[in-house]
Amino acid sequence: MTILALESSCDEFAAALVQDGKTILSQVVFSQADLHAPYAGVVPEIASRNHLLKALPVVQETLGSFPINNIDALAASTGPGLIGALAVGSMTAQALAFLWGKPFIPVDHIEGHLYSPHLAHHIAFPYLCLMCSGGHTMLCWMKSHGDYQILGSTIDDAAGEAFDKAAKLLGLGYPGGPLIQKAAEGGNENAYKLPSGLADKPGDLFNFSYSGLKTAFYYCLKGLAPPYPLADLCASFQKSLVAGMIKKVRNAIQHTGAVRLAAVGGVAANELLRSRLEALEGVEVFLTPLPLCGDNAAMIGGRAYIDYTEKLYINKSCKSYARMAGIVKGKRL
Ligand code: KG4
Ligand code: ZN
Repeated sequence: MTILALESSCDEFAAALVQDGKTILSQVVFSQADLHAPYAGVVPEIASRNHLLKALPVVQETLGSFPINNIDALAASTGPGLIGALAVGSMTAQALAFLWGKPFIPVDHIEGHLYSPHLAHHIAFPYLCLMCSGGHTMLCWMKSHGDYQILGSTIDDAAGEAFDKAAKLLGLGYPGGPLIQKAAEGGNENAYKLPSGLADKPGDLFNFSYSGLKTAFYYCLKGLAPPYPLADLCASFQKSLVAGMIKKVRNAIQHTGAVRLAAVGGVAANELLRSRLEALEGVEVFLTPLPLCGDNAAMIGGRAYIDYTEKLYINKSCKSYARMAGIVKGKRL
């Protein structure tokens, strides 16, 4: 089964052809990062307007000479994300589904991320998954693709958001995570003492918090005169954030008895985090390949395959899922 999937929840417009939830036949990601860099964050209006320009060119490039008759279904992320941005990808996919007389499968963006390591690895259930992106930071106990328990999540900023805000304070640009990682190279990670996140409390072992780290970093910078010792500052920030995250992952491993661990989302591309996760003892670690950590359409196509073949999309508690699936299962114009 081949699915043409679109993803446009934020500042990337991505399309992919995915076969049987495993094989990526082709994929194109158009990133607008340079358009948003001057604002040190994503400007929703700019994102939607540029998706409008890129939607069909990206779809056409992804399709190449692939026969439309060989496409079995279309899919797109329908949330969470920037509504204007989501609408462009989702409506493009729904229009094509209607025109070509194929089913449309709406996919939850987070569930797309959760699926991403399965494009590269075989991971037996149950397992623990660290989901860390620009908008979400969660620990999920995965019993199956459609049945998972959120053990904990951030009580304020997401990890990626914290990286982005720290980069903004330093005037580095956007997206902040890769820029901080690069600037941290060769820096002394113990140069500045920063809080590493939420302290463990009875009954609250799996939640994350980054506002304390962000505020401490702000005051740390206020106490310094530019030019800042960039490498030391970035290395200290990155170390503190990753240390706090690893502590929560350890708690969850202990609590669940997990023997397998996956990491997904844009922040899962962070080299320090990847090395700390790989160093954890007693768990087999499945890291999402770097090109699939950030937003991409292959993860949407993979997850859509599961939804479609297991008919999860009909049973979703969110009624609009079933409704949307019903509407676009319609006829050729
Ligand atoms: O998953 P993603 O592409 O989009 C969302 O769904 O949010 O994640 C984007 C986030 C941004 O905040 C970005 O700064 C962060 O992922 N990021 C990183 C790295 N690469 C991307 N954070 C830390 N280290 C990286 N190498
Ligand atoms: Zn994402």
